[in-house]
Amino acid sequence: MKLCFWLGAVLLLVFLAVPRLAKAGTIVGSYHDMTYVTERHLDYYGDSPINNYNEVCIYCHTPHNASVAVPLWNRQSEAVSYTPYSSPTLTTNPGQPSPYSLLCLSCHDGTIAIDSVANYNSSRADLVDYHGSMYTGSDYSSHTDCYSCHRGNTLWGNFRNSFLSTDLSNDHPISMPYPASPGYHSPIADKFDNGIRLIDGKVECSPCHNVHDPDIKPFLRASNAGSELCLTCHIK
Ligand code: HEC
Ligand code: HEC
Ligand code: HEC
Ligand code: HEC
Ligand code: HEC
Repeated sequence: MKLCFWLGAVLLLVFLAVPRLAKAGTIVGSYHDMTYVTERHLDYYGDSPINNYNEVCIYCHTPHNASVAVPLWNRQSEAVSYTPYSSPTLTTNPGQPSPYSLLCLSCHDGTIAIDSVANYNSSRADLVDYHGSMYTGSDYSSHTDCYSCHRGNTLWGNFRNSFLSTDLSNDHPISMPYPASPGYHSPIADKFDNGIRLIDGKVECSPCHNVHDPDIKPFLRASNAGSELCLTCHIK
């Protein structure tokens, strides 16, 4: 009898938990879910520029043998030299991106294929050498490059702006230490009131973006309505 009760309770919990998986606020089914991205292509034209490893996290994380220890990173890396933002009015001096921003750039600078991971089940026979990257700079007709299709006013969505390239001079500066006021709100232990936090005292991609949560588009950590996000740091 007791066993039945607990079994029932567990089933109820599972029932309550499962629909949540499909809800917003999760990476599952978002643009950062490469299994979803693969399926959209397979549904549409029976082919995909990205291997489907059937695991959402594997495109970025691995439980063992990580390529970068924190946060258990599973992506291949490449020695890339970036052009940082610079201006005469900056008080900081952004140099090459720090490891935390390189995590994002490993896809968004277009130099590495989206499915180029360190660990995966390589015994599967259906995995093909597609290796589509955001932009390879080479042949559009190869149809693995995302922007061979997703650029301009195509029916399939224009993701051109997501490709930051290695030229970061026209992007908000990153990887510089956060300056003291005046001009800037002061975080306490790297944290601001609205949950935005610096990484080791620096501005990186992740203070502004939450890679796992598509709720506030585009993957923002706080709403930017009324420039709220910007005013977390900047004093106007
Ligand atoms: C598109 C790449 C990507 C995918 C896919 C991804 N993550 Fe992450 N994850 C990151 C990055 C980048 C960080 C570090 C930066 C940050 O925290 O924003 C991170 C950090 C983490 C952390 C450290 C704590 C935290 O939230 O910062 C955990 C735990 C984590 N991820 C779990 C997961 C799990 C579980 C999955 C699969 C359901 C997953 N991630 C899928 C990119 C990804
Ligand atoms: C495994 C590759 C990969 C990694 C790593 C990755 N992204 Fe993405 N990201 C994508 C893809 C694919 C898309 C969807 C297609 C596009 O927009 O080009 C995307 C889209 C986005 C978008 C646009 C979302 C929208 O709604 O239009 C943002 C913002 C973004 N990523 C930020 C980040 C940040 C910040 C990080 C690191 C914390 C990161 N990404 C890491 C592959 C990645
Ligand atoms: C040969 C053309 C082609 C290439 C190359 C291509 N895509 Fe697509 N993509 C499509 C088509 C067609 C769809 C389906 C559109 C639809 O369902 O409305 C699609 C759908 C998507 C979606 C889902 C859009 C949505 O609104 O849900 C994402 C994200 C995406 N592609 C990302 C990528 C990424 C990342 C790459 C490169 C690794 C890539 N695509 C390469 C044609 C392409
Ligand atoms: C200071 C805050 C901030 C930083 C730092 C930042 N972003 Fe963003 N990013 C934004 C905001 C805000 C948007 C939305 C802009 C809009 O919708 O007009 C955005 C948009 C994007 C988009 C979607 C582009 C589009 O228009 O579809 C991508 C991809 C992206 N960011 C990636 C990154 C990556 C990768 C990094 C680190 C190299 C980064 N961001 C650093 C604030 C930031
Ligand atoms: C996490 C904190 C943070 C957020 C959020 C943030 N910024 Fe910044 N921003 C900085 C820092 C730090 C600098 C570098 C300041 C310096 O070196 O003087 C900077 C630099 C800039 C610069 C260049 C200034 C110059 O002198 O060349 C501009 C423009 C800017 N931010 C605009 C924005 C906008 C617009 C947003 C919102 C989309 C935003 N920032 C969000 C922290 C932030």
